[in-house]
Amino acid sequence: MASTFIRRLEGKVAIITGAASGIGEATARLFCKHGAKVLIADIKDDLGEKVCKELGQSSASFVHCDVTEESDVETAVNTAVAKFGKLDIMHNNAGIVGIANPNILEIEKSEFEKVINVNLVGAFLGSKHAARVMIPNRCGNIITTASICSKIGGSASHAYTSSKHGVVGLTRNIAVELGKYGIRVNCVSPHLVATPLAKDFFKLDEEGCHGVYSVLKGVVLKPENVAEAALFLASDESNYVSGHNLLVDGGFTIVNPKFCMFE
Ligand SMILES: NC(=O)c1ccc[n+]([C@@H]2O[C@H](COP(=O)([O-])OP(=O)(O)OC[C@H]3O[C@@H](n4cnc5c(N)ncnc54)[C@H](O)[C@@H]3O)[C@@H](O)[C@H]2O)c1
Repeated sequence: MASTFIRRLEGKVAIITGAASGIGEATARLFCKHGAKVLIADIKDDLGEKVCKELGQSSASFVHCDVTEESDVETAVNTAVAKFGKLDIMHNNAGIVGIANPNILEIEKSEFEKVINVNLVGAFLGSKHAARVMIPNRCGNIITTASICSKIGGSASHAYTSSKHGVVGLTRNIAVELGKYGIRVNCVSPHLVATPLAKDFFKLDEEGCHGVYSVLKGVVLKPENVAEAALFLASDESNYVSGHNLLVDGGFTIVNPKFCMFE
């Protein structure tokens, strides 16, 4: 028997930062498939425009937005409201990983700040301007892409790990403040996904990214899996979930594989 496809974001309006590529792009595609109007906000204009064209002008639109620039973020939120009439979902997804130097003595302050600026300050600005238009509507949904590096140390640079721990703290604080307006605030935290960001940082090809440890054998994490988790957080199915950090890591963060009694 054929099952009926239910559009879980019918009539919703979303901004997704960093949606010209990788996880954000997959999320934009999935949100549109589920009936949302999506504003792609990114610094890669050509890629962002290309994704929009593929999704169709009635479903998706592009705005140039550097998430570290408050005026860009403000404009992105205003554009969503002007174009689509409101903003239901703000997905702070843009991120960078920085340089892969593990030596704290060699890391420049400017390099540390660059990563914090995009990953943490960018999420703060996105949340702030989304809240500005969501509060009067007494509803809304803010999602930030964190990482397994929001939970454990040692998997990426000091700056990246700090920024991803930071967005979880930010999420919890904003969730507490905005709960009274019916606004939910959550994080989605993927393990390694073979996107340009991860492949560049770890110097891995597609195959290499698939070889990372998880307790789920033979399952490969794809951008679409992370998009499905974001869809859950964005949809009414999670309407009592707020302040949560949803790990999409195949159990990577729950076990030390070197000290494990199960094969
Ligand atoms: N790929 C992984 O393994 C992985 C794992 C955990 C978390 N993440 C997180 O997922 C998110 C998406 O990363 P991805 O893996 O899809 O990488 P990606 O490089 O494919 O996409 C990142 C996007 O962010 C955009 N971006 C970068 N700086 C920006 C800025 N200042 N303003 C606006 N846009 C900007 C880029 O142009 C790009 O389109 C990031 O927050 C990243 O930290 C990725």
